[in-house]
Amino acid sequence: MEVVLKEIVIHVSHLTKFYGRLLALDHIDFDVKEGEIFGFLGPNGAGKTTTIRLLTGLSKPTDGNASILGFDINTEITEVKKRVGVVPEFSNLYDELSALDNLLFVAQLYGVPRLARRKKAEDLLKTFGLFERKDSPFRMFSHGMKRALTIAAALIHDPKIVFLDEPTVGLDVVAARSLRNLIGNLRQQGVTLFITTHYLEEADILCDRIAILVKGRIVKIDTPKALKAATEEESVIEFSFAELSSTLIHDISDKLPEAKLVVMDYNKVRIHGGMPGKIYDNVCQLIREKGIEIQSVNSIRPTLEDAFIKITGLSPTVMSIEKGGK
Ligand SMILES: Nc1ncnc2c1ncn2[C@@H]1O[C@H](COP(=O)(O)OP(=O)(O)O)[C@@H](O)[C@H]1O
Ligand SMILES: [Mg+2]
Repeated sequence: MEVVLKEIVIHVSHLTKFYGRLLALDHIDFDVKEGEIFGFLGPNGAGKTTTIRLLTGLSKPTDGNASILGFDINTEITEVKKRVGVVPEFSNLYDELSALDNLLFVAQLYGVPRLARRKKAEDLLKTFGLFERKDSPFRMFSHGMKRALTIAAALIHDPKIVFLDEPTVGLDVVAARSLRNLIGNLRQQGVTLFITTHYLEEADILCDRIAILVKGRIVKIDTPKALKAATEEESVIEFSFAELSSTLIHDISDKLPEAKLVVMDYNKVRIHGGMPGKIYDNVCQLIREKGIEIQSVNSIRPTLEDAFIKITGLSPTVMSIEKGGK
């Protein structure tokens, strides 16, 4: 049997950041292993960007420490910067420069040897599907292409770790999916990825482990599977009705003393907990008495969203406010 011991490449201990009197990060601790896709999931203002800024030397911690690839962020940040790539939420590339020139410029900044720069830049443009557009100025690119080129730029010096801050925010569904594929591919090359997101689905699809950050504190770290399992012993049945009133919700709830939670969602009712067969019988009986029609019945699996609500006690809208936005 082959035993592969993964090294810890990011070690964070009591990392804390005050902005004036505002405590943005409150003594957080976590480790990231080599080759992992580690997700930082949390609502706006949770402290995700602050964490990336501290770990990549853009800002200094008020307290606590972290080591990246064995280098201390407080005393050896230049060594850290040489070995990590950062994809900020807002691109740092130049509008007027072409895609190729942007990459060549970043390559120079990072001290990529002159002779290797062009090949490296062209290879990245090919990987990211942008080679045909290498001579177009950055400003002409679509939102998704801009994001892709910003990621390519972060890879120019072959970093061991890449930090991505909300990489798919503002992208349409297709662009977001293709970007997630590219991010997934980076892992094949052994790059360790630290990704922040406020999209539960994204964290679920991409990440090996997820830290849930709320108001500057990590409330839970686990695999998406284990996070979902936290809600799994509970069955959830969803009924949809032609019409639904709050009186009906109360009648259903009264009829099902063993259910843990009854949630109303437009014309649907989700019933958490209890024995599915018995719940079904009881609801059908009640509905027959009332002369209301059931449109559909589903048994649904818990989502990461269910787990998030259960773990944080926060409403799912906290995470979804921006989804339709901008
Ligand atoms: N430069 C700054 N000065 C003052 N407050 C800041 C600064 N940057 C972030 N904050 C505050 O710190 C908290 C965490 O912000 P941030 O790390 O950007 O959260 P997230 O990326 O999770 O949305 C927020 O309350 C934010 O308003
Ligand atoms: Mg942020």
